[in-house]
Amino acid sequence: MDWGLSNRLSRIIKSDGRTVMLAVDHGYFQGPTFRLENPKKTIEPLLPYADAFMLTRGALRSSISPKFDTPVVLRVSGGNSIVGTLENEEIITSMKEALRLNVSAVAFSIYVGSEYEHQTLTCLAKLIDEAQDYGMPVIAVTAVGKELEKREARYLALCCRIAAELGTSIVKTYYCDDFEKVTGGCPVPIVIAGGPKLETDFDVFKLVYEALEKGAVGVDMGRNIWQHDYPIPMIKAIRAIVHENATAKEANELFNKLKKEKK
Ligand code: R5P
Repeated sequence: MDWGLSNRLSRIIKSDGRTVMLAVDHGYFQGPTFRLENPKKTIEPLLPYADAFMLTRGALRSSISPKFDTPVVLRVSGGNSIVGTLENEEIITSMKEALRLNVSAVAFSIYVGSEYEHQTLTCLAKLIDEAQDYGMPVIAVTAVGKELEKREARYLALCCRIAAELGTSIVKTYYCDDFEKVTGGCPVPIVIAGGPKLETDFDVFKLVYEALEKGAVGVDMGRNIWQHDYPIPMIKAIRAIVHENATAKEANELFNKLKKEKK
């Protein structure tokens, strides 16, 4: 692997081979999502606890101080919205802009099985060709659109493998039953999204723990962290699972302790 690409990746996936990425890119198609209405207020307090954070150039420039050292993953696909055709994404940010913003990776969503499968996959391939010239890692997001039934191993394994075959450095997908079939068929590291806020805190810790047990290298999680009343204890407890091998039960105990101590 070229030095630049390898160096950028090592800023995101830490020396233990794992990562806690904070996903705060939701506004690009959802608008002012609950508790992300003011990006600066939500994101900046969490940055010291994230290994990387993922957002658009607009949110980065308008809301985040350039003095933060946390690596940036720049979302470069979009052009869609929740009230339009969700799957109709293309490249919305150039490689030149990604380099200008000094980001550590770029992220692009693919919609396998949708009307926009070919468009999103060929855009991803073109993005990777360009990114290779500059040593820029590409993260593919295996988006499932509004069809929740697609969150099953057979489908997600297909999406992840296709993304890896096209040359992505990391794949972001959803956790599902038989998740080992997804990781087992994907030759590049996988991180999981959290999805909508789960019922209990323990559900979140269990999701992270099981995903790691079944081969994920970490998370790229959003709503289950920053929509929580206690986002900092939440991300700290998730870090304990990812970087300190805590169990879901231990993470839950840590979370309750930090919550009480207001840390
Ligand atoms: C969706 O395409 C976005 O990339 C989000 O960043 C992603 O869904 C992860 O966030 P959450 O954990 O809130 O699902």
